[in-house]
Amino acid sequence: MRTIIALLGSSRRNGNTGRLMDSLASELGIEVVDLSEKKISAFDYEHKNRADDFEPLMEQVLRSDAIIFASPVYWYAVSAPMKIFLDRISDYLDIPDLLEEGRRLKGKHGYVVCTSVYDEVSSAFISAFRETFEYLGMEFGGVLHANCANGFVTSDHEKEIGAFSKLIRELSVEGT
Ligand SMILES: Cc1cc2nc3c(=O)[nH]c(=O)nc-3n(C[C@H](O)[C@H](O)[C@H](O)COP(=O)(O)O)c2cc1C
Repeated sequence: MRTIIALLGSSRRNGNTGRLMDSLASELGIEVVDLSEKKISAFDYEHKNRADDFEPLMEQVLRSDAIIFASPVYWYAVSAPMKIFLDRISDYLDIPDLLEEGRRLKGKHGYVVCTSVYDEVSSAFISAFRETFEYLGMEFGGVLHANCANGFVTSDHEKEIGAFSKLIRELSVEGT
């Protein structure tokens, strides 16, 4: 069976992005991993942080076929917990005993779920994911974005959430 993992990085668990991600996760029947609950420290060139929660979480990610990255747009970029997670992927490109494992990211589908206060999501925000996925040999699956200028109202986004969940299910099955 194809598996999907959702990683949420936001400064509040039940804020706009968390609620958008929860609605999508309930359509997909998956759990959401809250990066803020994990003890994951910033990238360290000396890799003195290998005992934190990053490697066990990456093992879960590497066992999944599709990865959903959920973050609000904070200053045209991802949230701090998401940035730390993305930076730490470099461990799998640097540390000799993780290199083989890291290659398993290749071919996985990556999806972006995000909220901001505009109709259009910042192109810098999306480009960072697009280029990161490309570098890692991942497939860019698509973006689900909600304008939350007036907060997150589930009923305003039901159609897009349904369509995105269908896209994820179809693409993840197609890749088998
Ligand atoms: C620190 C900070 C920076 C933000 N920067 C942007 C931005 O650059 N562009 C934008 O459209 N919205 C920006 N916003 C608004 C958030 O993207 C928006 O309110 C989002 O839905 C918040 O999601 P959350 O509840 O998960 O934190 C910012 C909000 C905060 C708190």
